[in-house]
Amino acid sequence: MAFDVVRILVINGPNLNTLGWRQPEVYGHETLADVEAMCKAEGDRLGAEVECFQSNSEGQIVDRIQSARGVFDGIALNAGAYTHTSIAILDALLAVGVPAVEVHLSNVYQRESFRHHSYLSKAAIGVIAGFGSHSYILALHALKHRLDQTPSAQVN
Ligand code: DQA
Repeated sequence: MAFDVVRILVINGPNLNTLGWRQPEVYGHETLADVEAMCKAEGDRLGAEVECFQSNSEGQIVDRIQSARGVFDGIALNAGAYTHTSIAILDALLAVGVPAVEVHLSNVYQRESFRHHSYLSKAAIGVIAGFGSHSYILALHALKHRLDQTPSAQVN
């Protein structure tokens, strides 16, 4: 497996479809399409197949995580505001057991205190925050590194 192509699912949650015009001083000027194209290009460089998904709906994110079981080797997840509220997304990550990296464009720890707590970190192998769109690239590298070290990291 270490030499196989790994499959990584990049999931973006609510309001991340507005990247480009949403608070650019916080989230930058790149659009979601830019970020997704960047992830796919980095995947090509890393020997990873990257698929991208975005939804504003918590239930659709839960469904997408569930359907990743047995299909994807890793998940890079920016759940947006659901990071700070969603036990359902935490439960989905725990259920599927696919290694996941929690991603944030902004440094959530420099921001409002309600952004300092994540329900999802408990199920994540790590958290990357504060590097703008480069956070996603770092997450892909971290996942690829972990999957190369522990090819059977997927537990279920
Ligand atoms: C975010 C941080 C969250 O607090 C916020 O609700 C988002 C984006 C980030 O990428 O910095 O929607 O996850």
